[in-house]
Amino acid sequence: MKNLLIYIVIAFVVSGCNCQKSDVESQCDKRLTYKVYDSSVEEASDWVKKYSNLDEAKANIYKRLDILKTSSGEAIETPLQWEHEKKQVKEFFANSVYGKPLARPQKLEFKLLESGEVKDLNAIRKQFKIVATNNEKVYEFNVLVYIPKNVKNLPVFVSPNFTGNHTVWFDKKIILPNTYLRINKRVGIEDNSPSEQQRGKASWRHPIDKILSRGYAFATFCYCEVFPDHFKGAKDSVYQIYPPRAKATAIPAWAWGNSRVLDLLETLPEIDAQKAIVIGHSRLGKTAIYTGVFDTRFAITISNDSGCLGAATNRRNFGESISHMAKSKGLNYWFVDELKNFGGYEVEKIPFDQSHFLACVAPRGLYVASATADLWADPLGEYQSFKDAGKIYALYGAKNVPSQADKLYIQKQFLGDIAHHLRIGKHDIVEYDWLNFMDYADKIFKRK
Ligand code: GCU
Repeated sequence: MKNLLIYIVIAFVVSGCNCQKSDVESQCDKRLTYKVYDSSVEEASDWVKKYSNLDEAKANIYKRLDILKTSSGEAIETPLQWEHEKKQVKEFFANSVYGKPLARPQKLEFKLLESGEVKDLNAIRKQFKIVATNNEKVYEFNVLVYIPKNVKNLPVFVSPNFTGNHTVWFDKKIILPNTYLRINKRVGIEDNSPSEQQRGKASWRHPIDKILSRGYAFATFCYCEVFPDHFKGAKDSVYQIYPPRAKATAIPAWAWGNSRVLDLLETLPEIDAQKAIVIGHSRLGKTAIYTGVFDTRFAITISNDSGCLGAATNRRNFGESISHMAKSKGLNYWFVDELKNFGGYEVEKIPFDQSHFLACVAPRGLYVASATADLWADPLGEYQSFKDAGKIYALYGAKNVPSQADKLYIQKQFLGDIAHHLRIGKHDIVEYDWLNFMDYADKIFKRK
């Protein structure tokens, strides 16, 4: 891995130096992109090679959709025409892919469990229990919020975590969750349960010191506290307080968690809830997009490495496939059973692409981030959706959106009305990603 990185960096520097602007530049980027891809393909695990195509030559086998045409073939030229189409896009994804959004519960209480000063972060920590009551049934989960001291009108990240609030930072006061956790050797979760030894062990994923020092508040909850992430998780999830549905899927439940955290943040005087950013990595990246589409209070939606049924186009045969997802017992509880109708070439029967779903966030802020070695998530396919979604932003008057001719750059952010970057490295979310996200949020919130 180390050698690969050195190689990539050298290739980047060498190619960068030889590049002249104009068309030479685009060839240069293309060559560089494929060099990186070739090395990553060689390094991909046998498992990934077995379950996916990683050969670019075999990737573009499906008919692409034109986002500026309705599903019945009429031109979309105005925001109003898109708004009309958007209703159908949202309905389709709710009914046939992820499941319908869960309504706000009849009653919500925010109980402050603990609060204190964190000197080394120059911040206040607040921990709440959100108590949701619906149909006389109660569901509770914990939220951790860090707020930079003596600053007002703070923008805020709503960033659910995989491994428990206690793992996001080295803070002894963070309350341990009382929930199932997925095994994660790097964080020290060996037997699905939380422990003291795991404190701060996932901090590489949330550089809270950097986030707070840039003047952003940070709110997090463990997604397993809302819907335990396994195929029998629904019975212990928030669905308990809602009327039964054909299939209680995970993504609307995790998105429900994001929205309830925003309900809480709306009550905190230090926070400007008009400047809320929903962010998620991987399955939580898929969830972030779903949240941003259905909860329009979020000003910015950030998808990190969300891949198949996240940001990646469904019209490429590269990396993870819908049929793999629909079949796999370890994943298919995130989605409704209708998804099984769309495996293989049947993907062409899906009337919309993931770019349509991304475009439902318009005209609010949107960021798509990928990583070079994350071929399972198809970085090129994520970029394709991003570019297509940009066409809808242009309808709303966005001037700085990518053009179809734009090449995929490495470690060089596209910072327009919507934003994108391709980080060198593996499937993960790291400080580099967050620094770029904050540059975009600064731009959108006019903080510079
Ligand atoms: C699996 C799954 C992906 C998902 C990822 C994750 O790899 O196939 O779709 O994004 O898990 O959430 O880490």
